[in-house]
Amino acid sequence: MTDRVITDEDMDREVLATYGNEAFLSPEYLEAEKRLLWPKVWQMVERLEDLPDVGDWLTYNVADESVIVVRVATGDSGEAFRAFHNVCPHRGRQLVSVPDHLPGLNSKSDQPVHSVRGKNRKNFICGFHGWTFNTEGQNTYILDPQDWQNRLTAELTCLSTVKVGTWGGYIYINMDPDSETLESFMGRAGEILSHFDLAKMRYKWRQWAIYPCNWKTAIEAFLEPYHVAGTHTQLLAYGNYYAMSKQYGWHSVSSYDTRDVDFQMNEASGTTRAGKGDDPRRSTYELIRENYETVNFSASTETLVNAASRLVEELPEGTPAQEVIAHWMASAKADDAKRGVIWPEIPGDVMAEAGLAWGLWPNQNILHGVTFALCYRVRPYGDDPNKCVFESYALERFPEGEEPQTEWVYAKPTAENWGSVLEQDFSNMEFVQKGMKSSGFRGTLPNPHQEQKVINLHRNLARMLEGRGAPKPLFDSN
Ligand code: FES
Ligand SMILES: [Fe+2]
Repeated sequence: MTDRVITDEDMDREVLATYGNEAFLSPEYLEAEKRLLWPKVWQMVERLEDLPDVGDWLTYNVADESVIVVRVATGDSGEAFRAFHNVCPHRGRQLVSVPDHLPGLNSKSDQPVHSVRGKNRKNFICGFHGWTFNTEGQNTYILDPQDWQNRLTAELTCLSTVKVGTWGGYIYINMDPDSETLESFMGRAGEILSHFDLAKMRYKWRQWAIYPCNWKTAIEAFLEPYHVAGTHTQLLAYGNYYAMSKQYGWHSVSSYDTRDVDFQMNEASGTTRAGKGDDPRRSTYELIRENYETVNFSASTETLVNAASRLVEELPEGTPAQEVIAHWMASAKADDAKRGVIWPEIPGDVMAEAGLAWGLWPNQNILHGVTFALCYRVRPYGDDPNKCVFESYALERFPEGEEPQTEWVYAKPTAENWGSVLEQDFSNMEFVQKGMKSSGFRGTLPNPHQEQKVINLHRNLARMLEGRGAPKPLFDSN
C-alpha cells in the first residue's frame, strides 16, 4: 500500500485501491461523522407526498441530530417547507420528543420509533416550561420574560433554522448554512435522474429495521452488483450480472456490462434487458418475473411483467434480443397509457448514461426504471458503530387517485418480510460487520471496475472527515 490518497482521476483509471476497517468499527470515526459529516451534508428526509398539507410536519433523525420539517403557507399564497433543529433554545429539551421506542404492553412489543409526525401544526410548545414557537421558528410565548430584565431578543429565543430543499419528489435538509445549493450538490446525477421524473412516483411499500451493522456496511451491500453471482446464485440462471461502476464526484453509478467486449449490446445496460438463453422472448420474461417476485414486488412493475409474459405470443421465434426489448417496452408503455400512466420520454443518450443504479452521497441508493424505483437509505443508529437504521422502499408510477396509502413498517429482516433476495443481502451484512473485526483482516480489496461506488463512498467520506479512512493505491506503480 502507498501513502498517496486515491483521486477521482485514479478511479477513472481503475487504479487498485485499499482502505481499512476504521470507517465501520471505530467509535472515534463515528464521532467524526457526527461532527463533520451529518451536520454538513444534504440528506434526504422524506417523500413530499408525506407532508401534503400546510401544518404537516415530521422529525428527521440521524445520529445525535433531530430536525423538524414542516409545510407552511407563504405570504404570496404559496407553500414552502421550513426546517429547524429539534431543540428548545431555553434549556435544550427536544422540542418534539423523539423516543427510541414507543412503549408496548411488555418489552417484547416495544415498537422502535422511525420518526414523529403530525398534522395541522400551528405552534410547537415545549413540554418543559412552555416556550412556544410558530411554524416559522419564531418565539411567540415565554413565561415571565421580565425576569430576563427584558433583554431576551428574537435572535436569542427563536429556533435554529436548517436549510431545506426539494428534488425528485423528496425533501432534503442541510444543517450547514454555508453549504452549496441542493441543485449544485445533485450535479450531473440529479440532471440524469430528473429525466425519470421520480417526483411523480409514489410509495408502493416502505419498510425499515434497526440492523446490527454499521450504516456503511449496509449501504455497500446494495451499491454493487459484483455480489450477485456469490450471494444471489439463483439469479444466474436468468441473466449475467457483470457490472461496471463509475464515480460522478460525490455520487456514483453502476451499469450492466459484459465481460466480453465483442458481445457488447445496447440491451446489456439498464434494468430492462434480455435474460440469458437462446430465446430472448422467454428469457426476458423469466428474468423480469424472477426479479420482481423475489425482490418484494419491486425493481419492475406488474405492467412490465405482464407485457413480457406475452412476448412469446406476440413475436416470431428468432426475433433478435434488441427487437424483443423494443417490442416489450412499446407494449408495456401502451398498456400503461391505457390506464393513465404516462411514461416520461427519456433521450437515448441519457438512458445510456443513467445506467442501472445510483449511489447518491452519502446514504441514498436509487435503482431506477422508467416507471419504478427500488431505493435504500441507511443512517447510523445512536452511538453504536455496529448498528444502523436500514430502510428500503419501492416507488412506482400509479394512475392518479390509485396511489396506495403506505406508512413506514418496522420489519424484522426475514425473507417473509423483505423477499428472498433482500434476505440474502441481509445474510451478508451482519457477518461483514463481524468479519472486519478479525485481527487477520488486512484491509479491503475492492474491485476497481465493479465496486467503484464503494471506493467512491470512502473517498468522499475521507474528504469530509479530515482524511480518515482514505482509500489509497494498492501499488506504487499504477
Ligand atoms: S427547555 Fe423548553 S421551555 Fe424550558
Ligand atoms: Fe443483493
